[in-house]
Amino acid sequence: MSIAIVYGSSGGNTEGVAKLIQKKLGVEADLIDIGKADAGKINSYDKLILGTSTWYEGELQDDWAEFNKDALELEGKTVALFGLGDQEGYGGEFCNGVGTLYELSLKKGAKIVGDKNSTEGYSFEESKAVVDGKFVGLIIDEDNQSDLTSSRVEQWVKSIKSAF
Ligand SMILES: Cc1cc2nc3c(=O)[nH]c(=O)nc-3n(C[C@H](O)[C@H](O)[C@H](O)COP(=O)(O)O)c2cc1C
Repeated sequence: MSIAIVYGSSGGNTEGVAKLIQKKLGVEADLIDIGKADAGKINSYDKLILGTSTWYEGELQDDWAEFNKDALELEGKTVALFGLGDQEGYGGEFCNGVGTLYELSLKKGAKIVGDKNSTEGYSFEESKAVVDGKFVGLIIDEDNQSDLTSSRVEQWVKSIKSAF
């Protein structure tokens, strides 16, 4: 089974969390910057952890936005999602990018795991990353709650480990 952690990161925060996930996962997983990869490369993996930050009031990070998502093949693949945002600065569209990746993964027939995370401890008005009252992936806020990042990553990785 080949595993990749695929991230889009403009300032390095999402990249940092991707590295943390890689470290805590405890199995071999390649780190891929979506800005430097094509769909063929990503399609060659069996299992994927996809991450994005949110920009421009609710949009996917630039490299994800420009990436040819139509060519992504996710049918039957195990997929987990994570994302970064700023709940104080952008509380009306907090981590919407993760919601966009969730919709994309669902549409493409992925088997999504790690998608029922509590919103407790966060403070925001609205987020596309919330479905049925739960975050559909790991949600990290380096701008306001960086002290919680390590424990949030650890807890989430524990919850998806058996699927990877
Ligand atoms: C211009 C700008 C727009 C942003 N828009 C959003 C947003 O709509 N929603 C959100 O949750 N965070 C938003 N953020 C916060 C970033 O997602 C956050 O700082 C993140 O950690 C950046 O990660 P990166 O360095 O991996 O790109 C925005 C930040 C900036 C500077």
